[in-house]
Amino acid sequence: MPIDIPMAAKKIKIAIDGPAASGKSTTARAVARRLDYLYIDSGAMYRAVTLAALEAGVPTTDETRVAELAGTLEITFGRNNEATEIYLDGTDVSAAIRAPRIVAHINPVAANSRVRQILVAKQQSLGKSGGVVMDGRDITTVVFPDAELKVYMQASAEERARRRVAELSVKDIAADFDEVLASIEQRDRADLTRIHGPLKQAPDAIVIDTTALTIAEQVEKIYRLARDIIERKD
Ligand code: C5P
Repeated sequence: MPIDIPMAAKKIKIAIDGPAASGKSTTARAVARRLDYLYIDSGAMYRAVTLAALEAGVPTTDETRVAELAGTLEITFGRNNEATEIYLDGTDVSAAIRAPRIVAHINPVAANSRVRQILVAKQQSLGKSGGVVMDGRDITTVVFPDAELKVYMQASAEERARRRVAELSVKDIAADFDEVLASIEQRDRADLTRIHGPLKQAPDAIVIDTTALTIAEQVEKIYRLARDIIERKD
């Protein structure tokens, strides 16, 4: 896909929030690729802290120790446009952070206000010069409330569960629809009800319901919105 935005164009920040399995990451990554922007998967950072705690034998419910640990970690991203490449103290943990045990232990980490402070500061520093697409739960509200483009992506829990089952089936992993749906609903509850950095719609976010959209359509919508803003800024 040719990049047809002039090199001198102003680089903006694009913030995308939405619930688990709403297609955010795939869409955000594709938009970043089209604009030649950096894509940052903020969820991968919460996953990396969870992995570090499990590996250090620190219970993720131990707020103080998890926050202390988070403060010592060096979390960096590779510039891989196809998949999130994330390093923890120099070790590639891209695959390890996707293990089911991470999601099973992540909620207390995501609810830990000191961990959030540390990760939010890091996310703000990664995106401060613009030219970034970042997705997560609190990007439009806490990390980049000043983003030029804010998007809230939503889809019904049933549709998200259907997509997740289909994704797993491509990888030859059998999954029970009802179990996947229950897990998505449980993550929604945790994301929506935590005190610090909960998932919520920023008042000025553009809401895109992806239930009936393909990934290509979602990408096109966000890309066009971004182009309009970039052109107006020039
Ligand atoms: O996006 P992903 O599902 O990989 O996120 C993993 C976990 O990190 C989620 O359970 C979510 O609650 C948490 N998270 C968060 N804030 C973000 C991104 C993710 O609390 N900005």
